[in-house]
Amino acid sequence: MIHKFDVVIVGAGGAGLRAAVEIPKGYSCAVISKVFPTRSHTGTAQGGVCAALSNEEDDSWLNHAFDTVKGSDYLGDQDAIEIMCQDAPRAIIELEHMGMPFSRTKEGKIAQRKFGGHTKPEDPNDPNSRRLPVQRACYSADRTGHVMLQTLYENCIKNNVNFFSEYYLTDLIIEDGTCKGLIALDMATSEIHTFHAKAVMFATGGYGRVYRITSNAHVGTGDGCALVYQAGLPLEDMEFYQFHPTGLWRLGILVSEAARGEGGILRNSANEPFMEVYAPTVKDLAPRDMVSRAIISEIRAGRGILGSDGTYYINLDLTHLGKKVIDEKIPEITGFARTYLGVEPTKESVPIQPTAHYAMGGIPTNYDTEVLYDNKGKTVTGFYAAGECACVSVHGGNRLGTNSLLDIVVFGRRGGKKIAEFLETAKQIDFNSDPSEKTKEKLTNLLSQSGNEKTAVIRRELQQNMMDKCGIFRNETDLTEMKQLIMQYKERYNNITVQDKSSVFNTDLVETIELANMLDIAESINDGALNRKESRGAHMREDFPKREDEKWMKHTFIWKDGSGGNPRIDYKPVIKTRFEPMERKY
Ligand code: FUM
Repeated sequence: MIHKFDVVIVGAGGAGLRAAVEIPKGYSCAVISKVFPTRSHTGTAQGGVCAALSNEEDDSWLNHAFDTVKGSDYLGDQDAIEIMCQDAPRAIIELEHMGMPFSRTKEGKIAQRKFGGHTKPEDPNDPNSRRLPVQRACYSADRTGHVMLQTLYENCIKNNVNFFSEYYLTDLIIEDGTCKGLIALDMATSEIHTFHAKAVMFATGGYGRVYRITSNAHVGTGDGCALVYQAGLPLEDMEFYQFHPTGLWRLGILVSEAARGEGGILRNSANEPFMEVYAPTVKDLAPRDMVSRAIISEIRAGRGILGSDGTYYINLDLTHLGKKVIDEKIPEITGFARTYLGVEPTKESVPIQPTAHYAMGGIPTNYDTEVLYDNKGKTVTGFYAAGECACVSVHGGNRLGTNSLLDIVVFGRRGGKKIAEFLETAKQIDFNSDPSEKTKEKLTNLLSQSGNEKTAVIRRELQQNMMDKCGIFRNETDLTEMKQLIMQYKERYNNITVQDKSSVFNTDLVETIELANMLDIAESINDGALNRKESRGAHMREDFPKREDEKWMKHTFIWKDGSGGNPRIDYKPVIKTRFEPMERKY
């Protein structure tokens, strides 16, 4: 079946829906999603969306920009960061006017809390004075992403957006440097649908599922990024993958940083509040890369707490916050602790471990969300990307908590506006040939392929080895081994048998396609990590422990088409406006 739309957006998370809201009513707009829109992964974002509102009179967008640049370990592009931080207060008020139910202060203002790495100078008249945590995260209890997603979905309905739910993206159609559409599989029937569009936006989210312990939903398999890579386009800064310090032990389910923003404390086996050793000023509210490393360092030093299965965890102590704060401000995550670990957070600590959470890298774009064709700034006509799948780059080497919900609304809107401008003159360009033929052939081959390998077995091995060899701490030996393993998994992939041959919700088939995508994503993360011989943000090389600005303050661009089946790597300079790199101490 062929569908024609002015614009097709893939992904119904916050970025995709915010872009769709911006498409003027005179144009036809479709949103394709692997899940029902309000089940998108944005719905699991908990602690807040940040903006320097006037609640704290001496906070400013420049403080926010400074923190974001420093948090990124000076890899974020400062022009894009300035745009985001300056636009943040407007974006929050806009969300409020769209109907988003924020929590409130006693005076009726939008409530804000502290979050890791968000600071302001102790002396407002001296920008160089000690920086202390600031309340900058606007929140709705610990369900901020959930209510944002519902609000944006309702606004899309109002804007007559057409939804194709439970459609799985299989192919991206780029011909002669122009994006002309895409192919998707209707999972309910296995029917192949061709979407012919003047403009396509990918808002396909992240790829935490390449790791075994992750806060990401099952949909987070990096399909959009993988299709871009498979189409011969580059991916940017893939080696920078964030581990959130507090996932529920063994499960990875997110325990929001809001818990520490409200006063929660991390404690080791001796019950010591160890973060003051690693970040003396901001302690438990240090940025995520530092807190995650501190947790693993405590465990490595023998100060983890031994669990019943022989693995170690660290305690998150909330007991001193009191029942009222726990019930009113962090009800969701404390509910998870009760349900999944059987602990009562008002009386006992919550066992946690770092969990794969967020991709700083992704599809390279300019700050108007146009997808880059190369590392020189050329763009792909009619192709846009926003949200976690995109690399603008506002997060650089390490994202600050609550900057992701901000990123999706600021750049989702900018993308929608840029597409609307493009549509004023854009024409629907015919396909060179029927693009669905290739998809049909690919699916027929997969279904008829036979061998003794199972998708779930290879996926499990990939996820565990990515944790062990390409996780929080990295080194040459492990990364080289991981590279060999990925090559072996790719070989073994050719011997997978898709056991389910049916056409109704064939999740075996979809998961097998997802696995091919995850293998490409893992390859790009691992090769980027092997190549970058320094430590910066979330990329910690134990064999190169220092940040090397002279040599490495540059973005990695990686293509699939190198020699001998290897990826190819080149670089793009970081854009610096006003913030000079300095040592990152908190
Ligand atoms: O900890 C959290 O609530 C997560 C927020 C984020 O990733 O921005």
